[in-house]
Amino acid sequence: FAFTPDNLAWAEAQITKYPAGRQASAIIPLLWRAQEQEGWLSRPAIEHVATMLDMSYMRALEVATFYFMFQLQPVGSVAHIQICGTTSCMICGAEDLIAVCREKIAPKAHQLSADGRFSWEEVECLGACANAPMAQIGKDYYEDLTADSLRSLIDRLAAGEVPVPGSQTGRFASEPA
Ligand code: FES
Repeated sequence: FAFTPDNLAWAEAQITKYPAGRQASAIIPLLWRAQEQEGWLSRPAIEHVATMLDMSYMRALEVATFYFMFQLQPVGSVAHIQICGTTSCMICGAEDLIAVCREKIAPKAHQLSADGRFSWEEVECLGACANAPMAQIGKDYYEDLTADSLRSLIDRLAAGEVPVPGSQTGRFASEPA
């Protein structure tokens, strides 16, 4: 792994924002950029970031494993679906959503679908509890999901569509189109 020239210039600029001797503070933005470049954080990518920040691989790995926003295994090329499994979402049907992921994507979290296009995992509260149950796909939230609406969402993504994020029932839609 190596940053592309553009990403390398960006990473070096981030490092200069921190005081001398505190370059390791730039680890989260650099790991995030590495993940954006590759889709996930491979060991070589974490090592590359650690070397740039004069840190040990183990310290960088500790950060990468602490946050569920970092993916340590390859994710689906079309979508990685993060189902919130915390209290509000669980009470409102997260288990049904997880069952759909097991059925349509792969039996276990972090496994790729047979065609490599999808993956899924259960995550902790994403802060959209009022519209539970919900899932994050990429940078977007899909809320008020049901098993059927999640199935439809996956089918539309597979067909190349970009489904409109937000409440899938239109609930609490506040911005006029
Ligand atoms: Fe699911 Fe908070 S419990 S978003």
